[in-house]
Amino acid sequence: MSRFDWIDGTELGAEGFLALAERALALRAGSGPRRFPGKRIVAVFLNSSLRTRVSLEAAANDLGVHVVTLNPGADAWKLEWRAGARMDGEYAEHFADAIPALGEYADLLALRAFAGLKDPAEDRADPVLSAFRHWSPRPVLNLESALWHPLQALADAATWRHHLGPDLRGRKVALTWAPHPRALPAAVPNQIVLSAGLAGLDLTVAHPPGFDLDPEITARAAGLAAAAGGSLRFTDDPDQAMDGAEVVHAKSWSGFSGYGRREEEAAVRATLGHWTLDQTRFSRARPTAGFMHCLPVRRNVVVTDAVIDSARSWTTETAGNRRWTAMALLEEMFSRMS
Ligand code: CP
Repeated sequence: MSRFDWIDGTELGAEGFLALAERALALRAGSGPRRFPGKRIVAVFLNSSLRTRVSLEAAANDLGVHVVTLNPGADAWKLEWRAGARMDGEYAEHFADAIPALGEYADLLALRAFAGLKDPAEDRADPVLSAFRHWSPRPVLNLESALWHPLQALADAATWRHHLGPDLRGRKVALTWAPHPRALPAAVPNQIVLSAGLAGLDLTVAHPPGFDLDPEITARAAGLAAAAGGSLRFTDDPDQAMDGAEVVHAKSWSGFSGYGRREEEAAVRATLGHWTLDQTRFSRARPTAGFMHCLPVRRNVVVTDAVIDSARSWTTETAGNRRWTAMALLEEMFSRMS
């Protein structure tokens, strides 16, 4: 059997993706998890985390799996990933040596490595995750890379499924760009458009001019959506995006066409405070619509307290679903190894 890596959430197709979300909801409702005693994961975090790290450790614990978490540069050697690098600088060890060694201790290796946001061609290749996969002798779990956040995808899908029912096709979801003091990678919005495509949602993405997503990714997502009975459309009007929405995601990201113009982009971003999701805008969505954000979130910049603290905020529920969806995915990955 070929190695099963979880990289962008499409590995099992639309049916398999939604089945994992369904399994997560069953686990949340009390279904007993499968056990894999003696199995081990090494999770390497090149960037900070709260939910991904703790939900992975909690989920693995419930399956009898032990997780060793490493933060290179803080509690482990700082790792170089570039092939052929002359290592006379800050990096003490190369992926070529470290990752095969970690494979000697674990059955599954996991990595978080965000986008560099300097070179679009480099980020498009998801270079750190690609190097990690190259050197890993074990299946690889993506804990958020330059392009994707496939564990967040499963938690989002479980939340959509819980509130909207089993058939997500044609359900109306909005994703609105939001202000932020820093340029952020697009892994989360990339993942939302891809997952929405898998689920067949009617997704409207609102963003200001210049804050576009990678056209290769949106074309792929539109193809998935069309195949599943959904659709993907874009607008630069955040109010219009709310109309009829049953779910509203807010997220900040930097524009794909803004690579190389980050200072200019920062100046533009500073003028876009009116994109904060507030009660007035959110009230244009359906009265039952829920608010979603992957967290962490900048309160009163991305979204106002009134929205995120309201009964219609599904952020804590979705963060909770990170545990159950991680469990469902680990069951799938370890089942394939036994
Ligand atoms: N949503 C999410 O991935 O949270 P962390 O960055 O805290 O892991």
